[in-house]
Amino acid sequence: MPYGRVLIRRAANEDVSLIADIGARLFKDTFGQDNPPEDMACYLASSFSKTKIKAELEDLATTFLLAYEAENPIGYAKLRESQNPDCVTGPKPIQLVRLYLDHGVIGKGYGSRLIRACFEEAASAGFQTIWLGVWEKNNRALKFYQKWGFVAVGRHDFILGNRIQNDLIMERSAILTTKFLDCT
Ligand SMILES: CC(C)(COP(=O)(O)OP(=O)(O)OC[C@H]1O[C@@H](n2cnc3c(N)ncnc32)[C@H](O)[C@@H]1OP(=O)(O)O)[C@@H](O)C(=O)NCCC(=O)NCCS
Repeated sequence: MPYGRVLIRRAANEDVSLIADIGARLFKDTFGQDNPPEDMACYLASSFSKTKIKAELEDLATTFLLAYEAENPIGYAKLRESQNPDCVTGPKPIQLVRLYLDHGVIGKGYGSRLIRACFEEAASAGFQTIWLGVWEKNNRALKFYQKWGFVAVGRHDFILGNRIQNDLIMERSAILTTKFLDCT
């Protein structure tokens, strides 16, 4: 296949170290240049500690999906049933908390594979709407989510260390609609 193969699996409790490592690395790769190192270090320490990831893996409301190219982990997604913001109005919503690929594989269509897996995972658990927060200046991600049928419905603060950033809240209902599943 021209772009190799991506395999996606649901994470298990034994994946604590893998998720803590890839989560911190890809977050820093994506946003490190836009934030002071001390703010980034503070955020990484609180969000990707093994203690925190272990608790999330054990939490039935949270699901991690891991993506592999050959045998190499190259990305992950995190879905969580959580308190929904008032602006999210679609039926049976779940939050897509994280969607990250290694920068070496961005632009190969793997992001589309991963978000399709999220739709299928959410739908199989009975959810009908996915919502997410995305930094207003993350143009690649904004374009990607728009391509996948997400629309902006509101905003919220995203705290990174001592900084407050403006995140757009986007949602997509009817997550298994064929029109958008043809995007790959
Ligand atoms: C968001 C993210 C997962 C999307 O992944 P991606 O690789 O950029 O997106 P896609 O899978 O749609 O691939 C993008 C391009 O690859 C190209 N492509 C190459 N081969 C392809 C294939 N086999 N199938 C589909 N697209 C393919 C397409 O041209 C597509 O561009 P287009 O939409 O302009 O046509 C990725 O950009 C990422 O990890 N970004 C950094 C982390 C981040 O910002 N996460 C979001 C935080 S809210």
